Amino acid sequence: MKGIVFTEYLAFAEQLVGEDVVEDVIEDCDLPSGGAYTSVGTYDHSEIVTLTKAFSQHTGTEPEELVRMFGSYLGEVFQKKFGRFFDDAPTFFDFLANVHTHIHVEVQKLYPDAELPSIEMLERSEFDAQLRYRSPRKMDSLALG
Ligand code: HEM
Repeated sequence: MKGIVFTEYLAFAEQLVGEDVVEDVIEDCDLPSGGAYTSVGTYDHSEIVTLTKAFSQHTGTEPEELVRMFGSYLGEVFQKKFGRFFDDAPTFFDFLANVHTHIHVEVQKLYPDAELPSIEMLERSEFDAQLRYRSPRKMDSLALG
């Protein structure tokens, strides 16, 4: 998984529990990368799972809920960093439909080693939309956020 996800994950965690706790958790987790992420690097997605378990123990918040909160945080970060994708879509549902057909396709072109999920829009009406998430990484809570 791309480094930007990890650097933003740690920024999210720092906001949640503070810098000192994040450093302690990283040390306790004994990660293959040592937790020294750079946005251009690529790291094993299991490191997010390990970190999330540790933060869950620390905060008493369920891992799925932490990942959902991170998804919401990442949405705001992406809105600032990749505003074009948001501006291009007339409505929120258009934006969601674009993820599969356009946005993640562009991400894959830019980073051929990116591991992206399939997020198809199955049904859509004025007020409801149904998305189908598929990925071997099972990060549906991130998609929900
Ligand atoms: C501007 C909008 C977006 C951009 C630029 C973007 C980009 C990315 C990038 C760079 C990754 C990491 C790939 C990797 O590390 O190998 C990723 C993963 C992911 N994206 Fe997006 N994304 C966007 C919108 C969305 C939206 C709206 C959803 C959900 C509805 C979504 C769901 C996910 C999920 C769940 C993953 C984790 C990987 C997996 O589940 O297999 N993304 N995306």
